[in-house]
Amino acid sequence: MRELMEKIREEGEAISDHVLKVDRFLNHQVDPELMMRIGENFADAFRNEGITKVLTLESSGISPALMTAYILKVPLLFARKRKSLTLQNDLYTANVYSFTKQEYTEISVSRSFLQKDDRVLIIDDFLANGQAALGLTGIVQQAGAEVAGIGIVIEKAFQDGGEQLRRLGFRVVSLARITSLKEGVQFAEEVMCQ
Ligand code: G4P
Repeated sequence: MRELMEKIREEGEAISDHVLKVDRFLNHQVDPELMMRIGENFADAFRNEGITKVLTLESSGISPALMTAYILKVPLLFARKRKSLTLQNDLYTANVYSFTKQEYTEISVSRSFLQKDDRVLIIDDFLANGQAALGLTGIVQQAGAEVAGIGIVIEKAFQDGGEQLRRLGFRVVSLARITSLKEGVQFAEEVMCQ
């Protein structure tokens, strides 16, 4: 998605060899028009998959996932990282290990919002080692529902999450694939054009 790649180039900041800061439009402040076009791109990619629900993980996955769900006219469901007053029992849960934070987080979704006949589109902002996406696929599978696809806003293709998920047979659509952050941001498409 060209507009997204330009935005990353203009407003993103590589804060190390492997971490991209995109707080200006995705992870802190959010650009709603860009999110809408991201939603349109995901909706176009998965329109024929019979999606019944979009699933993401709080918090930064919610804005692209909401726009996608709005366009596909299906509910958005987000897994929570902390139990809330109203989310205590009857849960599907998964343990997600963050290599970035070096800790496990238990993510949960109420059993009442996922059914066997659901075809679920998983959306997330970043794909790095794939642990969040794998945790979400686990939750869908616990419900006996189907993962119809995985949509990622920014895939860091130099980490192995994308490869793992594709090897497991999931259809992964990433709107921007970054191959390196070492000397500025390098995108996969540019590498292929050379
Ligand atoms: P993984 O899920 O692919 O294995 O990723 P990892 O454990 O490395 O990532 C943990 C958190 O860091 C996730 O957000 C993920 O989206 C984010 N993240 C990973 N790589 C980058 C990066 O290069 N830049 C930025 N900005 N974020 C990255 P989270 O903790 O769930 O945060 P949030 O959704 O509450 O904002």
